[in-house]
Amino acid sequence: MSGSALYETFARAPLAFDHGEGTWLVTDKGERYLDFAGGIAVNSLGHSHPHLVAALTGQAAKLWHVSNLYEIPEQRRLGERLVEATFADKVFFTNSGAEALECAIKTARRYQFVKGHPERFRIITFEGAFHGRTLATIAAGGQYKYLEGFGPKVEGFDQVAFDDIDAAEKAITPETAAILIEPVQGEGGIRPVPTQSLKRLRQLCDKHGLLLIFDEVQCGIGRTGKLFAHEWAGVTPDLMAIAKGIGGGFPMGACLATDDAATGMTAGAHGTTFGGNPLAMAVGNAVLDVVLADGFLEDVQRKALLLKQGLAAVADEFPEIIDGIRGTGLMLGLKCVMPNNKVNMALRDQHLLAVPAGDNVIRLLPPLTVTDAEIGEALKRIRSGAKGLTDAIAAEAAK
Ligand SMILES: Cc1ncc(COP(=O)(O)O)c(C=O)c1O
Repeated sequence: MSGSALYETFARAPLAFDHGEGTWLVTDKGERYLDFAGGIAVNSLGHSHPHLVAALTGQAAKLWHVSNLYEIPEQRRLGERLVEATFADKVFFTNSGAEALECAIKTARRYQFVKGHPERFRIITFEGAFHGRTLATIAAGGQYKYLEGFGPKVEGFDQVAFDDIDAAEKAITPETAAILIEPVQGEGGIRPVPTQSLKRLRQLCDKHGLLLIFDEVQCGIGRTGKLFAHEWAGVTPDLMAIAKGIGGGFPMGACLATDDAATGMTAGAHGTTFGGNPLAMAVGNAVLDVVLADGFLEDVQRKALLLKQGLAAVADEFPEIIDGIRGTGLMLGLKCVMPNNKVNMALRDQHLLAVPAGDNVIRLLPPLTVTDAEIGEALKRIRSGAKGLTDAIAAEAAK
């Protein structure tokens, strides 16, 4: 056996956490880290949120799993609440983001099939996208590093440049079923899609009989200061994949659809053993209790501004480290000058956790419950990290 019993698929930091408290993670040695990685936009309400702990432990003492052979009242309730809060009429629950995307892709293809267009199965996607690691979602994401060595790429995905709506229009053929896009790219480097572009995509879909699919796995559930990022643009999709934040750390996802988009998803057309199980549903409902409470999202917007303004000041002070700030809400990116992994390590040395992304960006994804004081503390640590790197550059130059 080489090293550990686990697949070598992850480049893990040499850190193990014993427990979490709000925005803080505590190692097995008692060291405290400020968590602005949030389990990659998952811990929407931080660690050990009392309302989520109560929901999960309360459900755990009653019933864990029954399968979708039976009614699951909490699943019905969460579905109704998501429908009430969004464009959607129907919801299918999954265990992960990739499965939510699989469901959206299948729903779009099946829609065209039952509408008399079985030839329409192709989906247009955008460079820099990340939609998951299943065979279909790596094909949708189109990134060579995730496709290499896994056999023939799943057929039916046509990729155009990021935010190139003219190219998307040109890519539409009689075989096109849908357009799939993240309103804010996460892994791709915190790249918001302009409102005008989302509007044009909606028009293109309406004109050509295509479905518009939003992937809000990372940018949804309050991350941008609205329940869903697309609300800022005033454009609604036909289908939407969500996950991450809705479970607050419990693995779950969902595909949301309009009645029309879900036309093909009849009895037996799709299924899941675990999706929508009572434990996940209890937590999902508890997350919504908090996120939909009066004033919660407005406070996220206020805190996001505080963080963004503070980051802009740090970027101004250390232009040889940070080239600029991008993103929206509590989904912010530091565009780095030196390799982002190096900057990330410098932040980790300051006991601040962040996540590298594409385009040489560091993602900051604190819990939506982060306090003003914690934002201040994070800014202090980012400044110290940037200063350390600047001093190291100066020392190197002086040699
Ligand atoms: C935008 C987006 N879509 C889909 C996924 C896949 O989600 P999961 O890892 O839960 O399968 C991710 C994960 O990072 C994501 O950020």
